[in-house]
Amino acid sequence: MKTILFVYGSVGGNTQMTVEAVAGLLDAKNWSVTLRRAELCDPAELLKADVCVLASPTYGHGLLESAMGKFVEKMKGMSLKGKPCAVIGLGDPRYEAQYHLESAVLLEKAITEAGGKLIVPALRISRTPVMHLKGLIPAWAKQLSDAIK
Ligand SMILES: Cc1cc2nc3c(=O)[nH]c(=O)nc-3n(C[C@H](O)[C@H](O)[C@H](O)COP(=O)(O)O)c2cc1C
Repeated sequence: MKTILFVYGSVGGNTQMTVEAVAGLLDAKNWSVTLRRAELCDPAELLKADVCVLASPTYGHGLLESAMGKFVEKMKGMSLKGKPCAVIGLGDPRYEAQYHLESAVLLEKAITEAGGKLIVPALRISRTPVMHLKGLIPAWAKQLSDAIK
């Protein structure tokens, strides 16, 4: 059974809701899914999983959520050599256009710099995930699950 580790940061709960929705859909396919908050997770845990998903909202003019920012700092120098990975980024178009959904870009950069392999395009959730629970989110979960098979 493949193990899938989700590591996420979330302040207001939108990223947590998104991750739980995706993970729930994958769980239903009988994969072993683990969810970890970034502040409670050591990056070494990424090495043990078959597939890693990193998720963060964008805060403070195009930055990662604070705990995920620290997690990514700790990833520096580690090797994910060829490990299948994916990214979930959240944001809001009310913030400056150049910073909109920047967390997805930063997480993809962290993974590729560590040698990880992005197996699907990032899931980008703008505004609330609630309106995507029946569309974008299950569609992306299916894309991810097809890529893992
Ligand atoms: C203080 C603050 C700064 C933010 N900065 C950005 C930003 O630079 N770019 C962006 O796309 N969204 C930005 N957002 C929107 C959040 O990324 C968005 O609300 C997200 O859904 C929050 O996720 P969370 O509920 O998991 O914390 C910001 C929100 C707040 C409250």
